[in-house]
Amino acid sequence: MPKIIKTIKEMQETSIALAARGERVVFVPTMGYLHDGHRALLRAARPRGSTLVMSIFVNPAQFGPREDLGSYPRDLDRDLRMAAEEGVDIVFTPEAAEIYPEGFRTYVEVEGLSNTLCGASRPGHFRGVTTVVLKLFNIVMPRAALFGRKDFQQLTIIERMVKDLDIPVEIVGVETVREPDGLAMSSRNSYLSGDERKAAVCVPRAMEEARRLVAGGEARSAAVIEKVKKIIEKEPLAVIDYINVRRAEDLGDAPIVDGSSMLFLAVKIGKARLIDNTRLK
Ligand code: PAJ
Repeated sequence: MPKIIKTIKEMQETSIALAARGERVVFVPTMGYLHDGHRALLRAARPRGSTLVMSIFVNPAQFGPREDLGSYPRDLDRDLRMAAEEGVDIVFTPEAAEIYPEGFRTYVEVEGLSNTLCGASRPGHFRGVTTVVLKLFNIVMPRAALFGRKDFQQLTIIERMVKDLDIPVEIVGVETVREPDGLAMSSRNSYLSGDERKAAVCVPRAMEEARRLVAGGEARSAAVIEKVKKIIEKEPLAVIDYINVRRAEDLGDAPIVDGSSMLFLAVKIGKARLIDNTRLK
């Protein structure tokens, strides 16, 4: 079983001792309730370092006041078993008061990138993500950290923060892991009822149709978005939050589809807000 660390002091002392011994720490931050997407990050991380640290912390700062902080799924025993199977050496799992003690006032904001797409629907979300990720980097002191492309905007924002603030950590992106029917794995999929789970397949289907349309010669993003919108709207349980085509590098507008264009979508089904993305070419 991995070693469990709950305090910042013990984690920092451990990291400093590891570095002094010449160990290379690689890091996978998570909010727990692990699935095969998290496993893919751990598997990609394992050969990249000599000590694999995973954090499990449901970060209050990235949840809005009307969001699912209270009901976010948790199962530490199961997570620890999965972590052991994937060769995790240390699980850092602090309490919220350890990370945000009385008097906490400092936040990191990546301007521009954090208020579009999911940031427009979830004000303050990415400020919470970047703040906790920077804190975790300062606590775990990893040489490399891995993030999923499923949360492509999150990955882009963290890459920008690391560049802008000269943080000495290599950021590695990992491909999205999907269910057999194409739905991207997510801890929040556990919110879906049987019917909602069936309805959720409209998201990967719409992305597939979009790629097909582009492969057939369509280059106007507006036409691609319209097609995706029609497919999602056919599903009565699905409520569209956004559908957009953006440049991969800076999430800027991409009216004409080219090699860097990506389709981003967020769709609400029941209590779950599903997000996904795909390259179009
Ligand atoms: P969480 O949703 O637990 O995800 C942890 C990591 O797993 C993220 O890098 C996410 O992109 C990746 N991931 C989730 N589903 C995936 C899938 N189907 N395929 C591949 N990777 C997947 O993202 C967070 O937690 C938090 O915002 C965090 C970064 C931990 C900061 O609190």
